[in-house]
Amino acid sequence: MSNSYDFKSKTPKIRLAICASGRGSNARAIIDFALKNDVAYEVALIISNNSKADVAKLAAENNIPFAHISSVKFPDYTEYSAQFLKVLKDEKIEMIALAGFMKKIPQSVIEAFKNRIFNIHPALLPKFGGEGMYGIFTHEAVLKSGETETGVTIHRVEGEYDSGEILAQEKVLVFKNDTAETLAARVLKVEHELYPRIIDRQAAALLSASA
Ligand code: GRF
Repeated sequence: MSNSYDFKSKTPKIRLAICASGRGSNARAIIDFALKNDVAYEVALIISNNSKADVAKLAAENNIPFAHISSVKFPDYTEYSAQFLKVLKDEKIEMIALAGFMKKIPQSVIEAFKNRIFNIHPALLPKFGGEGMYGIFTHEAVLKSGETETGVTIHRVEGEYDSGEILAQEKVLVFKNDTAETLAARVLKVEHELYPRIIDRQAAALLSASA
């Protein structure tokens, strides 16, 4: 697979893989940010467990290699993990951003990419995290709790759901007349602003550590 992704600068970049299962709006934000700014990463691969996800189209539109890796395609877990790791290695990936990836990352990948896998969560962790807290369920839980603020968290991935060192958080106010949908939309806007910047910061740190 060759990467003809068009970047503004030719300075060295960290090869980033994005793992996403669906809509891919964060993946798009990360790609667009790299097109408009002289960032320290290049999106070199998109992985999805769903070959029909919007993120597959996004990859095609941007000439980014796309890998479909799922437990349906690879029912044997050892094979699934091996394929996951193989595609990352084949594309010389150095950093991974999870952006709405609905599957657990294989332990072998977490070990191989220690401290170099990031995730975005649409709430202020450790509140409203863990199993079952994804998508609209997160925002419904926030509204049900009566919290007056929620937000966005970006953290390292260290195994368990929504755990790992928190790298950035930004608050979003909850309004009295919010529905889960209006709240989700406001939080998502902040996600798109924050995630590319944090990825860039982490990529720059990795570049300078390896210089
Ligand atoms: C985002 O809300 C993100 O925080 C969560 O999953 C959602 C993915 O949305 N982890 P999208 O596919 O990036 O639009």
